[in-house]
Amino acid sequence: MSARILSPSEEALAEAAARLRAGELVGLPTETVYGLAADARNPAAVRRIFAAKGRPSDHPLIVHLPSAEHLPQWARDIPEEAWTLAHRFWPGPLTLVLRRSDGVPLEVTGGQETVALRVPAHPVALALLRAFGSGLAAPSANRFGRVSPTTAADVLEELGEAVALVLDGGPCPVGVESTILDLSRLDTVGPVILRPGAIGAEELTEALGRPVAMADGGAPRVSGSLPGHYAPATPVRLVAAGEIEPVVTQQLAQGKRIALWSRHPVAASQVVWQELPAAPEDLARRLYAQLRAFDRLGVDEIVIERPQGKEPLVRALADRLERAARGSGGR
Ligand code: TXA
Ligand code: MG
Repeated sequence: MSARILSPSEEALAEAAARLRAGELVGLPTETVYGLAADARNPAAVRRIFAAKGRPSDHPLIVHLPSAEHLPQWARDIPEEAWTLAHRFWPGPLTLVLRRSDGVPLEVTGGQETVALRVPAHPVALALLRAFGSGLAAPSANRFGRVSPTTAADVLEELGEAVALVLDGGPCPVGVESTILDLSRLDTVGPVILRPGAIGAEELTEALGRPVAMADGGAPRVSGSLPGHYAPATPVRLVAAGEIEPVVTQQLAQGKRIALWSRHPVAASQVVWQELPAAPEDLARRLYAQLRAFDRLGVDEIVIERPQGKEPLVRALADRLERAARGSGGR
């Protein structure tokens, strides 16, 4: 199968919906990153996602819904807290983990009794979900452990052989994956953020009127929380602003070629410098595309200035960059 990138006309959306009904995979733009979508009620189609990504089958997928009204078809014992957050943050980059209803295939949930659900804010995602009329299982459209795609071309590069087509929604406006909030154990542990994203603990705490905790990163229930994830093949080093000069100087002394992403340049012929955007929103939008671009340069190391700030998005960026640094190299 050779995939095509289609602009999201009525015709293209109808074809995408038909392909999904036939059990095929479609590249789907969302506001966070591009997803690899399949009919979430079709176990064979869902298995194709795992095969395409090279993802272990016990890593659960997020089901994308056309609207919050679909929640009861996918989750049971839905707590009031879920409705509160759905009304406030959907469509948007928030994924809720709830107890799954009986009809949700175990392929989707990685065998777990919970299911992750979100209504994405991207107009093309919403248009396709409405045309399809049901839930779409969609992890990020990258091979397992690699950098998430934020353009249609990235999806083709990662998974072109596996998808029937990719809908082009332009570059993703948020750029990092949704916040994942576990509401399935409210009685025992309360609401817990499993993966940080643009919507932070404070905002969720305020919306719920009860404290929201951050997971300690213990058990890998969330594949994005494995230590080495979102990783380029080139080694990545995350460095505090004040350490950049000495670190780069030392690397150059060893004869290395460096890609540097920092607010201020280091002028040297063996350094390819890109300016690190000051606003976290701009940095998030640029993050994965820049990692891909650096990876293509064939340099010895990618040095990135550690982003500073207390905003939720900065926390999410630091999380992704730390994982990129841990998982990079050696491939
Ligand atoms: O922004 C996003 O969330 C993007 C776009 C495409 O929507 N999707 C995404 O999917 O990041 P993926 O598969 O790369 O990450 C989904 C995460 C996984 O790390 C998975 O482990 C977690 O959601 N997850 C899914 N179901 C879960 C469950 N029942 N309990 C805990 N974590 C779950
Ligand atoms: Mg992913």
